[in-house]
Amino acid sequence: MIEKVLVVVIIGVVGAYAQGSCRTDQHEMTCRGKNSLHDLKKDQDYLEVDTLNVHQAKLDLTDDLVPDGINLSHLTLLNATDNQITRIGRRGFDKIRNMQFLYLSINQISHSQPDPFQALEKLKRLEMNDALDGNMEEKSDMLRNFFHSKNSFVHLAQIELNKNKIEGIYPKTFCGIQGLQRLELSNNRIPSFDFARTCLKELKALMLAGNLIQKIPADIWDFLPSLSSLDISNNPIDCDCATIRLLSGDDVVFLNQADTKCASPPELEGKRIFELSRDYCKTTRNPRGKASFFQFLVLFVIAVGILWLYKKYRERTRHMSSVPVGYTNLQHEQAVEPEFV
Ligand SMILES: *[C@@H]1O[C@H](CO)[C@@H](O)[C@H](O)[C@H]1NC(C)=O
Ligand SMILES: *[C@@H]1O[C@H](CO)[C@@H](O)[C@H](O)[C@H]1NC(C)=O
Repeated sequence: MIEKVLVVVIIGVVGAYAQGSCRTDQHEMTCRGKNSLHDLKKDQDYLEVDTLNVHQAKLDLTDDLVPDGINLSHLTLLNATDNQITRIGRRGFDKIRNMQFLYLSINQISHSQPDPFQALEKLKRLEMNDALDGNMEEKSDMLRNFFHSKNSFVHLAQIELNKNKIEGIYPKTFCGIQGLQRLELSNNRIPSFDFARTCLKELKALMLAGNLIQKIPADIWDFLPSLSSLDISNNPIDCDCATIRLLSGDDVVFLNQADTKCASPPELEGKRIFELSRDYCKTTRNPRGKASFFQFLVLFVIAVGILWLYKKYRERTRHMSSVPVGYTNLQHEQAVEPEFV
């Protein structure tokens, strides 16, 4: 009896593998290994499948992801994490236009054909953590390429680009994404807050932890009017008074406050920004305080000078006028006097 069960189980397992290394469980299909998708059967109906997980399949996304004759057009989620993907292009996504959730993390994408996501007009979320390869310029160009599109990405609310060693982003890279609400760029090497001032009006959350940012632009709350959470932890922030005031004045929620520290000036190095008293910048160390004291001193010296000059002037005029006034009076009195006689 036990042997029979074992044989049935073994036949079942072998049978499953003989059908290729893709397994379908109702709405979800999981494929593993190189060319696994090419083992799908052309006579089978896959329209029930809305979720496809493909792993270790060495995908080339400049070519069709879905083999000819297979209809996976009801797919809304593709998880292609960990596939050694090096290239992507428009053709890779051409047959899966209903995609809403695209996960491309843990890959080595170093080349992108123009406008690869053009067909994905329903895209809601794009995850590409630890997914990009290449030098600084290649990555910047690739990012621009992804989003400089005929697709206006009205539903694309969330983009994750963490852990990509990104060193620079063209300011207008995200301008074409109309729906963008959450942008994650943590653990890269981004040196500055270089976003174009006219975009990102709907952005609610911006994650920039673990980068190389020193300065927070003074107009940040103006050009990101919808921002409600910001993570700037683990950046070498220069805590001048303008920055301290900027970060304490708005009703944005700052994430990871315990790890948001100053790198300079030297007396504040390692101090947590959000624990610094707002009074810090009112003390004499405040350069603005110094400036106003200096101005006061100059004004005081000028005022004393003017008073001194005025006093001198008064002394001189009193001295000069006393003589002629007395003289004319005297003369007048002398001239009048004989008439009374
Ligand atoms: C796939 O199936 C859908 C729904 O039946 C259909 O509209 C579509 O034209 C098919 N696509 C292809 C390439 O056959
Ligand atoms: C995608 O697949 C990876 C690897 O199996 C897994 O760790 C991750 O949780 C999956 N993501 C989603 C959103 O399903």
